[in-house]
Amino acid sequence: MNIENLASAHGQPDGFTAEPAENVPCRFICAPQGEENFRLLVHGGAWDIPAVLHQPHADGVAKAYQAAMKAFREGADGFAVVLAALEILEKDPTFDAGRGSFLNECGEVELDAAIMEGAGLKAGAVAGIRNFLHPSKIAHDILSKTNHAFLVGEGAERFAERCGHKRLPPDELVDPREREVFAAWIKAGKPDAKVFFSSPANASLRSGAEPEKRGTVGVTVALKSAAGQWNLFAGTSTGGTPGKMQGRVGDVPVIGAGVYADDEGAAVSCTGWGEGLLRIAAGQRISAAVRGGTNLQAAVEMTLADLYRRMKGHAGIIAVDRHGNMAASYSTPFMAFAGPAGVVTHLRQPAGCDTLRRQDR
Ligand code: GLY
Repeated sequence: MNIENLASAHGQPDGFTAEPAENVPCRFICAPQGEENFRLLVHGGAWDIPAVLHQPHADGVAKAYQAAMKAFREGADGFAVVLAALEILEKDPTFDAGRGSFLNECGEVELDAAIMEGAGLKAGAVAGIRNFLHPSKIAHDILSKTNHAFLVGEGAERFAERCGHKRLPPDELVDPREREVFAAWIKAGKPDAKVFFSSPANASLRSGAEPEKRGTVGVTVALKSAAGQWNLFAGTSTGGTPGKMQGRVGDVPVIGAGVYADDEGAAVSCTGWGEGLLRIAAGQRISAAVRGGTNLQAAVEMTLADLYRRMKGHAGIIAVDRHGNMAASYSTPFMAFAGPAGVVTHLRQPAGCDTLRRQDR
């Protein structure tokens, strides 16, 4: 895997508008290793991850990567591979998904998730559900057990119970730390979540030794069929943004925004400022660009660049495409993710680690 700075190494791709260096996405070029019929990327959120949280992020994405790898080696289908990784991340309070998610303006955890595959464009999404640990599994049940693609709120919760998902007691998903973050958010004047994905604006919410955490999680997978076609899968799960309005939905469960998979284009999972990723239709935009002949990495970087150029938003994206290419890029100070060179995270890269820390600024 080579880590390079987009601007210095490659110049600017078509559509990339010159901006101050701080807005240049950081890129990973991901080379497949070992598993010739399998591609996997896992992310644990893009934001200004402080040093004290590096290790938990590295451990979390590494564990999720290994779980997905194990599922693949045991013969699981693409959905099961995606869900194996998301299950680990939703359980881990390090991340803004499942347990440990941000609280909304009412002090509740409200979860969104989606999963999709690219052969038949099958998709399942769920938004605004409370008291269930694994929204990604509920999204998969919507895909596989209903004629619908997207359920929200109470109806989704009732459906989840009918499918056997356990409704947890209120507060079961609330990490005590999030109560402090919530109080700090109020004290800070309820700042808009847009600023949380870039540095140093988020510093205002930090208190104590451990800053708040806020990483949406996601997975992209490609499995090569016997006929030599790549079948693409993506899944994304989140608790949304801190202090979000009750009922607010960001990019994550919206098919074509925070998640997308099309075997004729790409599978994409996003993290970052949801309102912007939603409005730019990030997932579909990348897939359509690939379908039109654009290189995957360039499509990802152009989307991040456009997100900033049009709306001053920051985000991170992982993607795999119909040719088996992989790409990961982010415009936030950090993104936690695991890729194919064993388990590589921004924290474990033996050389050049600092280039990931946006030393270009
Ligand atoms: N990207 C996560 C969210 O905005 O909800």
